[in-house]
Order: sequence, then structure tokens, then C-alpha cells
Amino acid sequence: MKVIRTKNYQEMSKMAAEFILNKINSSSKLTLGLATGGTPVQTYHYLAQDYREHQTSYQHVTTFNLDEYIGLAKSDPNSYHYYMDKHFFSKVNIPTNQTFIPNGLAENLEMECYEYDELIKKHHGIDLQILGLGKNGHVGFNEPGTAFDQHTHIVELTNSTIQANARFFNDINQVPKRAITMGIGSIMESKEILLLVSGTEKNEALNKLLHGEIDEQFPASILNQHENVTIIADEDAIINTNL
Ligand code: GLP
Repeated sequence: MKVIRTKNYQEMSKMAAEFILNKINSSSKLTLGLATGGTPVQTYHYLAQDYREHQTSYQHVTTFNLDEYIGLAKSDPNSYHYYMDKHFFSKVNIPTNQTFIPNGLAENLEMECYEYDELIKKHHGIDLQILGLGKNGHVGFNEPGTAFDQHTHIVELTNSTIQANARFFNDINQVPKRAITMGIGSIMESKEILLLVSGTEKNEALNKLLHGEIDEQFPASILNQHENVTIIADEDAIINTNL
């Protein structure tokens, strides 16, 4: 894994946006895997800014988001549909029918998972997957204990993830208990991965990722077995990691 060190969150975000723009500009067709959460917000902001200033086109880009809560409508401000629209899709010229996010309100959730994987396959897999890192090592919503070969599936969120994400909700009781997530298997099939890590609260997780064992109890550890991973991390996340 290649690690790029940045001074702070702003610089990490700027570099991530440049990394993504480089792929967009050098491909005639690109399938991007996208993440939500606090970490990539500023990256999307820089991509939107680039669009305003340089009109980089997204007409040839298709996106697949990692995950979505079960039970939230697309119009719910806490849904990842809403997040993506607010921070990114509405700011660039990506055609709506080229953006995919699991439907957390699907009547048949198992079928939704199956169809999501089929859709990714139909697009010949993901060229570049953007990831954030959960404090307990989760990626997407793949919680500790998730089998490494799993594809898109339904998860019960752990208390630590519910607590971590409660900051986006008015009340912790409003945080959904279940989600649909691309599996570790789906993520590992991406041709390239860009992992963004920022802040002291991710310090321990980054340390474990870089120096710990590969273990299903720490889902991100499997990234050590992927041949094309770049980590962009800021100083706060890197402190004490021996880098
Ligand atoms: C959330 C999301 C992940 C995200 C991670 C870290 O629960 N499902 O996709 O990468 O946890 O979130 P944050 O960037 O807010 O720390």
C-alpha cells in the first residue's frame, strides 16, 4: 500500500480530488466507487469547485456508492442518497441514470443486493473505489466479523458505528440499525482503491491497518492484500504509526 502524507484535512481532500480528477481526465469511460461519511465531504467540495472553474465533464463516469441505510427515504437528509446529491451529484454534470446507490427501501432487500452486484458486473467492475475508514476498521458498512468474500449484503450495524454516526442525526434512536453495503469481496474486486484517513480518532485504526494482522475482526486489514491501494492520510491520523 502506498501512503501519501498530508499536513491536514484540507490538503488530504485536495490531493484526493486531484487523484480522482486525474482518473476522470485520463479515461474515456470510468466507473467510480463512492463513499459517504464525514471524511470525503471536502473532497467532493473540491471536485465541485473544479467543475465550476474548469467544467471537467462527468458524462463518461458511472458511480456506485458503497452503502445506504435501510428504511430511510431518498429525501431523508440522513440518507446517503441525499448526501450524494447535496455534496456531489447536483454540483457536476453526471447523468442521474449513471449514479447508483443501494435502495434501502426496496421491498425485497435480498434481491436489491443481488441486483446491485449484477449491475456492477455489467459495468465491468469498479475502476477506482474511494473508501473511508471506520474507527473499528469497518469499510462501507462491513463491520468486524464480516467474511472477506462477501458481496453486497444486509448488515446489522454495531453499537460503535451507530454511536459514531449519531452525530449526523438529532437523536441516536433515529440512527437506522441496518444497512445495505457492498461487501469486502465487491470492494477487493475494484481495480484500484483510494483510502482517505483523517483525524486523531482514526489514528489507532490506521496503525492497526498498517501494522496489524489480516483479520476479519478488522475488515480494512484485507486491503493489505490488494495490489493497488493508495492511502492519503493527514498528520493527525498518522501520528504514532511509525510512518
Ligand atoms: C460510515 C460509512 C462509511 C465511512 C465510515 C467512516 O459509517 N458507512 O462508508 O467510510 O463510516 O465515516 P467518517 O468518514 O464519518 O469517519
